[in-house]
Amino acid sequence: MNIILLGAPGAGKGTQATRIQENYKVKHISTGDIFRYNIKQQTEIGVLAQSYIQKGQLVPDEVTCKIVEIALNEINNENFMLDGFPRNINQAQVLDKLVKIDKVIDISVDLGALTERICGRRSCTACGNLTHVSRLGGKNTCEKCGGELIQRSDDKEETVKSRLAVYSEQTAPLIEYYKAQGKLVSVNGMGTPDEVFEEVKKVLG
Ligand code: AP5
Ligand code: MG
Repeated sequence: MNIILLGAPGAGKGTQATRIQENYKVKHISTGDIFRYNIKQQTEIGVLAQSYIQKGQLVPDEVTCKIVEIALNEINNENFMLDGFPRNINQAQVLDKLVKIDKVIDISVDLGALTERICGRRSCTACGNLTHVSRLGGKNTCEKCGGELIQRSDDKEETVKSRLAVYSEQTAPLIEYYKAQGKLVSVNGMGTPDEVFEEVKKVLG
């Protein structure tokens, strides 16, 4: 099964991807995670990506499409879940030429909830768990493994504003694009992570 997870920044794509990966045999490909790994290693791609990510802008298509093509090739172009790609119509058209997509799950969240979710997000440096300050009771350690929690550098309010604007202008039109292909399923992302996952399971069967 080849899936795309669509949704605004903070909609819960990464949170649902963890649950989907634990329950279905699909490989999680997150362009944001690939860029963050490259930034940490200060590779050529990482240095370039950082200059866009810190401003809340999209990394140029030719770079992003290439890394996705390589990641898909490594898994023989099957049984994957794309998180954060495609993010504009051009990327979707490139993807259509590479692989067949079965389902596109759009996690739909009220715009007002997104900034609070993103600014409160913390991720574990040890196990990668995604959490939120509201669940930590003042602590700064991972509730799963006790590891140190950090905040993403693009999760500052100013950057979030531009990420949300880019989403509205460039990514939201993908909803109509995949609707026209008959592949789009919308899931209400306003419940708890487990409630949202119950909806996702209904879609994936
Ligand atoms: P990326 O890493 O993809 O970030 P994003 O799309 O902005 O999405 P997020 O990761 O912020 O949110 P999410 O939907 O995964 O939510 P999460 O589960 O963490 O991209 C980063 C940057 O890289 C981009 O800005 C761009 O510059 C570049 N980039 C990436 N892909 C690109 C591409 N294709 N082309 C060009 N550039 C690209 O949840 C968020 C928070 O909410 C967490 O705290 C979580 O605990 C909480 N939460 C989750 N679900 C719920 C729930 N149901 N109820 C309450 N809280 C919840
Ligand atoms: Mg994410």
